[in-house]
Amino acid sequence: MSAGILIDGRTISEQLLGELQIEIRGLAGSGIQPGLAFVRVGEDPASKVYVGRKEKACADLGIVSRTHVLPESTSETHLLRLIDELNADASVHGILVQAPLPPHIRSAVVYSSVVPGKDVDGFHPVNVGKLMLGDRTGFVPCTPAGIQELLVRSDVRLSGAEVVILGRGTIVGKPMAALLCQKDRNANATITLCHSGTRDIKAHCLRADIIIAAMGVPEFLKADMVRPGTVVIDVGVNRINDPAAPKGTRLVGDVDFAAVRQVAGRITPNPGGVGPMTIAMLMKNTVRAAALSA
Ligand code: GUN
Repeated sequence: MSAGILIDGRTISEQLLGELQIEIRGLAGSGIQPGLAFVRVGEDPASKVYVGRKEKACADLGIVSRTHVLPESTSETHLLRLIDELNADASVHGILVQAPLPPHIRSAVVYSSVVPGKDVDGFHPVNVGKLMLGDRTGFVPCTPAGIQELLVRSDVRLSGAEVVILGRGTIVGKPMAALLCQKDRNANATITLCHSGTRDIKAHCLRADIIIAAMGVPEFLKADMVRPGTVVIDVGVNRINDPAAPKGTRLVGDVDFAAVRQVAGRITPNPGGVGPMTIAMLMKNTVRAAALSA
């Protein structure tokens, strides 16, 4: 059997960023330069890398970004005070508080404190609610929005498709399910949301037209769980020990890529699949927030 065709997130994200560049030029004509504030708490190495990539995307596009780095020991009160300042700052159109936060800080309280109009992450309860309701005036979380865009721009049919999502996290799994079940031309799919309590994940996966793996378990999805021709989207970023690797560790996704590629119809590489789309959608949400602020 021939190997599955790659869904190239880098190329598709560049298309999207090209479209955004035109919008940003239009906004400049109206005297608006989009501004995005990042807040990072602590020194989690992965968060540093992710925020660094987002900062670079802003710089490349002409979005003004500012990063606020707070120590791991920061109190919740202190963080909420910073968010209040950013909420009130007219040059800041979007606010992104990088997850995960230290355990002594209540994430739900923090994400509820960002005003919904600047919540380019789509984590505020108002935006979560709008997504459930199919109200498009809200902001949709960047990774699920990026995956939908990736599928649509790759001509993968979503309407009527059996989509199996692995993982019920609040950043990917749950909003992904809400997005793809909407009665919308680019959704209208039948969703199965699998998680650690699911009795027979393999049986669900074998029925799927599309599998979205987002549970954070290294190389969980194996070739014998995938029907030939299935579209496979790998959201996972997991660091595993590998004595043969130069650093003693290496990154793998939630999909056993080499084996699953032999069965899948189409598959995202990892890296180079979902990651660049998440960043592109963050830029898109920020440009929209800026345009709506006028
Ligand atoms: N950590 C992992 N993914 C995300 C994301 O999309 N937004 C934020 N704020 N933190 C994250």
